[in-house]
Amino acid sequence: MSDSATSSLSSNLDYTSKDATVAIIIIGASGDLARRKTFPSIFSLYERGFLPNSLVIYGYGRSDIQRESLHSKILPFINTHQTNESSQKVKDFLKLCYYHRGSGYNDNDAFCKMRESIERNVQNPKSIHYLFYMAIPPNLFATATQSIRTMMKSIPSNQYRCLFEKPFGSDSDSYNQLSTSLSKLLTEQQIYRIDHYLGKDVIRFIPSFRFDNTLISNIWSNENVSRVIISVKETIGLEGRGGYFDEYGIIRDVIQNHLIQIMCLIAMEKPKTNSSCKAEAIRDAKCQVLRDTKKPTLKDCIVGQYDGYLCEELVRTESRTPTYCLIKLTIDNERWQGVPFYLIAGKCLNEKLAEVDIQLKEPRLSFNTQEGLHDDEYYSMKMKIQPEKYVSLGNRNAGTTLKLFEKTRDDAYANLIHDALQGNSSSFVRDDELKLSWKLLTPLLHELESIRPLSYKQGSEGPREVQSYLHNNHNKDM
Ligand code: NDP
Ligand code: BG6
Repeated sequence: MSDSATSSLSSNLDYTSKDATVAIIIIGASGDLARRKTFPSIFSLYERGFLPNSLVIYGYGRSDIQRESLHSKILPFINTHQTNESSQKVKDFLKLCYYHRGSGYNDNDAFCKMRESIERNVQNPKSIHYLFYMAIPPNLFATATQSIRTMMKSIPSNQYRCLFEKPFGSDSDSYNQLSTSLSKLLTEQQIYRIDHYLGKDVIRFIPSFRFDNTLISNIWSNENVSRVIISVKETIGLEGRGGYFDEYGIIRDVIQNHLIQIMCLIAMEKPKTNSSCKAEAIRDAKCQVLRDTKKPTLKDCIVGQYDGYLCEELVRTESRTPTYCLIKLTIDNERWQGVPFYLIAGKCLNEKLAEVDIQLKEPRLSFNTQEGLHDDEYYSMKMKIQPEKYVSLGNRNAGTTLKLFEKTRDDAYANLIHDALQGNSSSFVRDDELKLSWKLLTPLLHELESIRPLSYKQGSEGPREVQSYLHNNHNKDM
């Protein structure tokens, strides 16, 4: 039976209903991700009244810290408004946060004792719903999940779920291994794989923007679109993660996940909304995009490395790891035949920006000039994902902007934790999506091992060759 078929047979319980009893357990609570993202996102949900009344939050780790020191670690990240009202909320929230120490992530005994402790701290110990958040390195996923299985002995599988953070493998083989080991321990329905871009407001809005208004849905194909450029540009560099980044590089770090996910949402056919399980329909539609996409080769790709990268801490001498990449992908189906999708990502660039630029074809007869639009006057629709969130339509000289969201802080992780508690998996990455995206990119990743990236200056637009490549391709793409 396919994943989607099994999933649609059973209903996902909503753990956010007010009378539910919920335990959120952060595995690896002493770490950076837990402190900076996980606890603050749970606090944000708590502050806004999105969590059930009966709630406890447990951190698990090996570090020898007390409950109070966990509180002081997370406090600076949650106490951000500093009003009287919010400080009361902060105090109330911290009362719900506990720390449980074990000797390791295979310490079954410690996990079982944690369950006993949780049961002592809630009013209704017989009907607790558990959400585990894996804020640990991926080589510990299987070990920790095995301990969770032991801890959850006798608890029905629909009463506990696990959220996992990327990286999910580094190529097809390594992902398949991870997938096999997790699938022995949890059902696909219990696994929520986070791609935090799927929690961002504008990205969550893409399906509704595309399919709920005919103005947009009618233009969304190769009849009107000449090319699509999806960019995630960053001004920051390695931020102390040199060891991780040098092993992974920009394609594995952001393209295989964040940019590919955006492309799937932009390109997918309308999910079968009458299907009993919308989440599976959306993920089925995304998988089909990946099946229709041709494997890129070296000629579809430009890689760069910023000047000074080789001097970064934990970066290998002579490393060929790309910190910048452009990949041209073609989707071989009726809707997108002939429309290249350019995925661009880079570190240490001149701007922080994430956007989708949908460039429109030149009209047969231009209104302004007899000879038609100039090269740089094409019309495009831009979906700005960050730092600002809006959609614009226009050309270089004039246009209009549609504000989509107020300037709010990005609560991507809070959105996703809320979805997971509700049992809504539509914004999480399914196993087959990952298998397909690795299958698409693994041959290129292996080919790139022998390629020396082009160098580019920190704070620049990236390798100069990219601009001329895009410019030269512009006329062909029109
Ligand atoms: P950390 O390296 O801080 O690890 C988290 C915790 O895991 C540590 O505090 C430690 O807890 C435990 N741990 C770490 N290494 C080992 C080890 N070798 N053996 C046993 N326990 C270990 O990671 P982060 O918090 O930065 O990230 C967690 C996961 O999330 C990683 O997979 C990371 O790639 C991913 N991620 C992180 C992001 C971030 O912003 N930090 C963003 C996106 C993904 P203790 O010693 O107490 O047991
Ligand atoms: C993470 C990458 O997944 O996304 C980081 O590991 C990158 O290298 C980050 O900086 C970008 O996320 P955002 O939300 O800041 O655009």
